[in-house]
Amino acid sequence: MTVEIEGITLHLAHPDELPVRWVGQEELMRQLLASWLVVDEHDLPMNPRLLGKPGVGKTTLACAGAKRMGREVYILQATLDTRPEDLLVTPVIEGAGKLRYVASPLVTAMIRGGVAILDEGNRMSEKSWASLAPLLDNRRYVESIVAGIKIKASPNFRLVTTMNDDASTFELPEYIHSRLQPQIFIDFPERDEEYQILKENLPFADERLLNYVTEFLQQAHAADERYTVRDGINIGRFTIKLRSLDPGPAGEARSLKISILETLGEEALRYVPRA
Ligand SMILES: Nc1ncnc2c1ncn2[C@@H]1O[C@H](COP(=O)(O)OP(=O)(O)OP(=O)(O)O)[C@@H](O)[C@H]1O
Ligand SMILES: [Mg+2]
Repeated sequence: MTVEIEGITLHLAHPDELPVRWVGQEELMRQLLASWLVVDEHDLPMNPRLLGKPGVGKTTLACAGAKRMGREVYILQATLDTRPEDLLVTPVIEGAGKLRYVASPLVTAMIRGGVAILDEGNRMSEKSWASLAPLLDNRRYVESIVAGIKIKASPNFRLVTTMNDDASTFELPEYIHSRLQPQIFIDFPERDEEYQILKENLPFADERLLNYVTEFLQQAHAADERYTVRDGINIGRFTIKLRSLDPGPAGEARSLKISILETLGEEALRYVPRA
């Protein structure tokens, strides 16, 4: 698909299709959707930031929120070397002396009135963030130096960024921080919610295994470990695979132990629940 802006033809990106459902922690979903609301003709949507440890569900919440709004979702994975043009418009050579201008997922969301998820935004440099500054305040546009055009966001456009608190992050300057509000912090879920999340992601696991893994995660959370539900999902999945090759009576405990060991290492074994 293409659109024309100020005489330049832009080739748009494809939306992402994700079969995700957000389970439990409804308050976080409520805050995300509230931040995107427009309650008056003078009001503007906000640009929320989802924070939390790797694997707590930041990307899942962002996608599920976009889905609840019924909008197209465009995910842009930020990395250390994401450049401003990667966020906006990239030129691609298309035959002799001809350039094709390709819109990023973010710019495509702006044009189509979709939701842009700027995933792992903490990995991106200040220079790249700076190119988004006018988009994140009441101006709601970006300027592509490469294509020489100004691109305005549709009123339906929404943005969310996710950031985790590991070490591989840039310190962002205050003018960027202040444009990425509110900050919605995702913490470990309560026991029954964690069970439901595991069940949602491993619908073929039996109740016993789901309970084991939930118990394991809850004990690890209580001890302030960084293990998250993603680790739990991996442990459950690998246990089921191992167990299918080891169907004997001791197979379950053995499979669980190997799975935890190979997923998280020796130290994690101390949280294995007693059968
Ligand atoms: N509330 C939830 N409902 C459903 N699934 C969840 C929920 N929380 C986490 N998950 C599942 O946990 C896994 C990890 O979630 P996700 O990838 O969103 O984490 P993340 O915080 O974005 O991690 P990272 O920082 O590494 O990108 C996914 O498989 C996701 O489906
Ligand atoms: Mg993520």
